[in-house]
Amino acid sequence: MNYIGSKKRLLSFIKQSIIQTVGDISCSVFCDMFAGSGVVGRAFKNRVKLLISNDIEYYSFVLNKNFIQNKKLINYQKYIDELNSLDLIEGFIYKNYSYSAKRYYFSDTNAKKIDAIREQIELYKDDQQLYYFLLSSLLLSSDKVANTASVYCSFLKKLKKSAKQDLVLKPALYELHDKDHLVFNEDANTLIKKIKGDILYLDPPYSVRHYGANYHLLNTIALYDKFKPIGKTGLREYYHSPYSKVSLAKDTLEDLIKNANFKYIFLSYNNEGIIDTKDIKNIMQKYGDYHILTKEYKRYQVSKNHNHTVVKEQLHILKK
Ligand SMILES: C[S@@+](CC[C@H](N)C(=O)[O-])C[C@H]1O[C@@H](n2cnc3c(N)ncnc32)[C@H](O)[C@@H]1O
Repeated sequence: MNYIGSKKRLLSFIKQSIIQTVGDISCSVFCDMFAGSGVVGRAFKNRVKLLISNDIEYYSFVLNKNFIQNKKLINYQKYIDELNSLDLIEGFIYKNYSYSAKRYYFSDTNAKKIDAIREQIELYKDDQQLYYFLLSSLLLSSDKVANTASVYCSFLKKLKKSAKQDLVLKPALYELHDKDHLVFNEDANTLIKKIKGDILYLDPPYSVRHYGANYHLLNTIALYDKFKPIGKTGLREYYHSPYSKVSLAKDTLEDLIKNANFKYIFLSYNNEGIIDTKDIKNIMQKYGDYHILTKEYKRYQVSKNHNHTVVKEQLHILKK
């Protein structure tokens, strides 16, 4: 999934920096506090003793329940085949987010297929492992045929090539493991007071754009609750993160660092973020030994005529 702020391309930098700083991590409790797509947690889940994954957005929670917490093999093919061959349904997604609904997020056929699959998945709710696996499969397969530039704050005026393709439900396969990893769906500053561990990885939002708005349709498919979609883009009520507010970001970060009962804190942030580098440094220095590692990388930007811009990704490191 093409997720804003994803650390997929920075994973080796992050892994190397953490291992260099901490040494042997095999007995560590590692928390990925702003998990998003889950790529960081996935990179560590078989290297540490316990992984705690958290994100405030429900679609992210679903993905991480599957990719992080699911551990045993599921005999999944019969479910995928069943879901791919259901009769189409004119449900909530078709009525509000399809070509016919004048919100061109999905072709009519794909919107009806999402409705059919989503309703059927609800029947498997008692089997948590299967439920989150199937929901993740639907989220990622729907995202592949979404008629957007990349996020869901708007749709394209004409169906693009990939949006005309029929949705095929593909299994969201996860790596097997034998650990008891935990996944939460809470505000980071609330959760931090209830947990403790060795390595805390922080990757909060660094821009004023709220994830709940950018990915509202993924929440709607995952929750499948009924509400009155707002305006042209059919937005739902969404969570406004303090990390995306200029007036709150700095103090909220300090509150998190202060309350963290972890030996090492690694904070990813880039040089264009809301909080100044010098402010982060000032905050972190108050609580222990601090240093910073920097990596330049090319970020692909859809909004700027498909240009690449070079940004500096910073890893702030604190030993409390
Ligand atoms: C930069 S993204 C994380 C990207 C992730 N590391 C990845 O590689 O996919 C920031 C995440 O923070 C989440 N978030 C925003 N405010 C939050 C809060 N107060 N508590 C927990 N999660 C929050 C967003 O939903 C988003 O997924």
